[in-house]
Amino acid sequence: MPEIPAVSRRLLLGGALATGALAAGVGSAQAASVTEAATAVDPAPRRRPGQKSMIDVAFEPCRTVRVGVIGLGNRGHGMSEGWSVVPGCTVTAVCDIRAERAKRTADRLVATGRPRPAEYGGSDESYARMLERDDIDLVYIATPWEFHYEQGRAALLAGKHVIVELPIATGLEELWDLVDTSERTRRHLILSENCSYGRNELAMLKMAHEGLFGDVTNGHGGYLHDLRALLFSDTYYTDAWRRLWHTRSTASFYAMHGLAPVAAAMDINRGDRMTVLRATATEPKGLADYRERFVPRSHPSWQETYINGDLVTCLIDTAKGRVIRAEHDVSSPRPYSRINSLAGSRGIFEDYAGTSTTGGRIYVEPDHSGHSWRDFDTYRKEFDHWLWKKIGDDAANNGGHGGMDYVLQWRTVQLMRAGLVPDIDVYDSAAWCAPVPLSVKSLAAGGRPVEVPDFTRGSWVNLRTGLDSRTSEMPPVA
Ligand SMILES: NC(=O)c1ccc[n+]([C@@H]2O[C@H](COP(=O)([O-])OP(=O)(O)OC[C@H]3O[C@@H](n4cnc5c(N)ncnc54)[C@H](O)[C@@H]3O)[C@@H](O)[C@H]2O)c1
Repeated sequence: MPEIPAVSRRLLLGGALATGALAAGVGSAQAASVTEAATAVDPAPRRRPGQKSMIDVAFEPCRTVRVGVIGLGNRGHGMSEGWSVVPGCTVTAVCDIRAERAKRTADRLVATGRPRPAEYGGSDESYARMLERDDIDLVYIATPWEFHYEQGRAALLAGKHVIVELPIATGLEELWDLVDTSERTRRHLILSENCSYGRNELAMLKMAHEGLFGDVTNGHGGYLHDLRALLFSDTYYTDAWRRLWHTRSTASFYAMHGLAPVAAAMDINRGDRMTVLRATATEPKGLADYRERFVPRSHPSWQETYINGDLVTCLIDTAKGRVIRAEHDVSSPRPYSRINSLAGSRGIFEDYAGTSTTGGRIYVEPDHSGHSWRDFDTYRKEFDHWLWKKIGDDAANNGGHGGMDYVLQWRTVQLMRAGLVPDIDVYDSAAWCAPVPLSVKSLAAGGRPVEVPDFTRGSWVNLRTGLDSRTSEMPPVA
């Protein structure tokens, strides 16, 4: 099965990585005809007795959301503070395999006037001890990708809701298992997809739902971020975990930041669904070229061979005949973009393309004619999502990534405290992450189309709200 295996920490640290095992398809992948029969994936596993869908299942309301954090590196340390400033939220426990990082985060929270969280650390099992606590409602996971599945699953089994950084898992069986475990434990598992709460992304969603693009036919998103300097830094990614993924497999590792907002605007799992994926990969050139020019020969990276294509593109068909193009490139010189574009029978929006203050450009009939782009500014103002109208100023003061981290955290806490249905559920999370293993499968088969599983087991046909929620209040803090 050409999936990305979860690797153990021992393997990761030992450097004995399975280089080459999954390299098939690099540079040779050709997009196959859509009409060609897609390679079938295994059928949906049967639900066990008592196991039920988590669609439209509301959180049980709670007065305070008590968060336990696993992984306190760049992301987890910053987000811990983010959780602690949301009204009605408190961080009760923090965990990192490196105990000193748990202390650092606990110290930081105390320095900002918050209660001291319990500290866990010292071993790769420390998180399991933290999960035994009964004062955690939500577990936030910000460890390297290879740990997300086992830690997310363990959190569900410990009776906690869980929000996991991208991706929730890297294998199809693992994705199904998280869906099933969520359904069995009746606990939500949510992808921590902050970009789904971006201001332009949410305005794009509202415009799509209000018909500005007519019939939406296609969308384009991705994660195009020159990470070369960070990937080769000895102090940024712990144990170089992220660079090592490029030695291990050929896949679209992390396209969800651009894919998820397009999928939301197309009502994926809410009236439409992704059906078939085919992937292409360019030659892996960027990392080796960077190393050649900037990294001393004594550096351990010189023992590595990079096999992931620089630009991995997934073309995804939907049941309603739409097409999504999702891209991933972190190893080429280029300015940042998540692309974030949507188009239909009446017009098109493109983010990261304009010179206006919002950075977007638009062209929609009947407002526009003459084949020239217009600034997005007035449209974003008109279609601003209620969350940004309500907490946009707080987000600007508190949050990273232009404030969308804060919006994600505020909204998650609000949903839990008010007892509402999550905007992003386990089915969305699994579908948005499925291109990771599916791109491996497609590339290994020379770019042939592969089926995308229906994690909802047929419920995708039902219309329901998600990120386009109606205005609601944060319950007052007593
Ligand atoms: N959504 C976003 O915008 C965004 C931004 C940055 C990073 N991320 C994601 O956050 C995650 C972490 O990235 P990072 O940049 O913080 O990496 P990092 O290397 O800085 O931090 C990872 C931390 O996890 C710890 N860790 C490893 N194994 C552990 C275990 N078994 N138990 C407990 N702790 C363990 C490490 O010691 C380290 O402190 C990744 O999944 C990354 O993709 C998301």
